[in-house]
Amino acid sequence: MKKIGNYNRILVTSALTYANGHTHLGHIAGSILPADMYVRYLRLAGYDVIYICGSDEYGTAIEMSAIKEGITPETIIDKYHFANKKAYEDLGMSFDIYSRTSTEYHRKASQDFFLNLYNKGLLSQRTEKQLYSEKEGRFLADRFVIGTCPICGFEEATGDECENCGSSLSPLELKKPRSKITGDTPVVKESTHYYFPLASYQDKLKEWIESKTDWKPNVVNYCKGWFKTGLKDRAITRDLDWGIPVPVEGNDGKVIYVWFEAPIGYISNTIELFEGRGTPDKWKDYWQKEDTKLVHFLGKDNIIFHAIFFPAMLMAHGDYVLADNVPANEFMNLEGSKQSKSKGHAIYVKDVLTKFNPDSIRYAIASNMPENKDTDFYFEDLQAKNNNELGAILGNFVNRTFVFCEKYFEGKVPESGKFEEIDSNITGSLISYTQRIASYYENYKFKDALSETMNLVRDANKYFNDTEPWKAVKESKERCGTIINICLQLCHTFAILFNPVLPFTSEKILKMIGTGKENFSWDRASELCLKSGHVLNKPEILFTKIEDSEIEF
Ligand code: 2FM
Ligand code: ZN
Repeated sequence: MKKIGNYNRILVTSALTYANGHTHLGHIAGSILPADMYVRYLRLAGYDVIYICGSDEYGTAIEMSAIKEGITPETIIDKYHFANKKAYEDLGMSFDIYSRTSTEYHRKASQDFFLNLYNKGLLSQRTEKQLYSEKEGRFLADRFVIGTCPICGFEEATGDECENCGSSLSPLELKKPRSKITGDTPVVKESTHYYFPLASYQDKLKEWIESKTDWKPNVVNYCKGWFKTGLKDRAITRDLDWGIPVPVEGNDGKVIYVWFEAPIGYISNTIELFEGRGTPDKWKDYWQKEDTKLVHFLGKDNIIFHAIFFPAMLMAHGDYVLADNVPANEFMNLEGSKQSKSKGHAIYVKDVLTKFNPDSIRYAIASNMPENKDTDFYFEDLQAKNNNELGAILGNFVNRTFVFCEKYFEGKVPESGKFEEIDSNITGSLISYTQRIASYYENYKFKDALSETMNLVRDANKYFNDTEPWKAVKESKERCGTIINICLQLCHTFAILFNPVLPFTSEKILKMIGTGKENFSWDRASELCLKSGHVLNKPEILFTKIEDSEIEF
């Protein structure tokens, strides 16, 4: 297998989706699509890569939805796990596994991890004051309590975080706390919990992050901010009904904190993946060998957990590799304000898929990806990208090439004659294009990768216009054959280079060419792979125009 830097394999994760609602375009833009593009590129380039994702099924978010809807948490997670799994599949996400944290694999992996730290004497037990709702007879952990943020004054902050300023909070810090379910004011009561000694990892984490020269500035800056405030030890157990039981005797009714066990889901899903493949020990190569490149994709609200908390857990455990990179994205807002499923202000993947081609959705999101700053999603933009770029540039080039070939060359790849300068220029540019695009992918610059890929299609259209095959066919069939041969070779190149962002279109182009996957790799994208005389299949329209009426809601 090919090496990437000093690494022999790559383990890619996307933040696990809470199974208490339908996945929306904010999730796609933040952590799912960039990872899928990255992984698809890596596979095509011949690297050993696995892509892990799944549902996050514990935590107060799920328990709360269940209480609100008057159903069990199991009913909620079953409904949304399968719905989201399907939505991702329909949008072309190529996970090696999309599993869930309610599995036995995950319970065991989480409890083993907890016990590993417990047996090393790393977890201290502390009795702390907690908010308790007498009306409900429960401690109000995390999202069960809302109140005013002590930092920014936002009145709807939850017991674990302030959505407005991004601060990580604990319920007792909230001003004017109230139960999210009943609205009543809680009392303070004592409870005993296990704490993870996060503060004592500050120096090690700081040194580790400072050694990273290629992390995105937004991620490094968030971390620096937390170091400046000073990391605090974190309670990793909760008094809740729904969760993984604390695996130490004398802790009945207590579960492991969701943010302790959820990232372990990346590990347990990998274990499940290789168990299913009949190589049950292979997961260890990806998690425990130093020559693995671990990359976590996520939205900015999850940076603290992936760049600080989980790495500290892994350091404490000692058997695992740490992330090589945590390329967090900012948010993709919906026409000006944050997409949030709890507020019902979001575009759900399942809905948008009923109206639009999955590749058009992927393209619109990828070309507006919030890599360095928040962006906004507008349906007008999806329409414009579909009509003016996918249809008018890519679809047009492929279509006119195929139609021309069918009309003048019986749908067979024509012979190529001697190259003129214009021919050598475009075919010669393929090596540098594919190298440049590869480098953008490897450096998490997905928008640049995409626009450079589209620039090549622009060059291809210019080539078609400048060589005027419709005139050439009357003057010299041989010359015209060379032009169309090159255009068809370019279609094959596009099937490869667009695969990371437009997987369905890539398959369609390949099917139209009819060669199968024999040359379907990144290295071959710069080569002229089609043999003259090869019989093409009938062309299909790749993108249909989106009318104004289709984007009215
Ligand atoms: O913020 C979220 O949507 C979480 N469900 C992400 C979890 S990521 C990982 F740690 F599991
Ligand atoms: Zn705040």
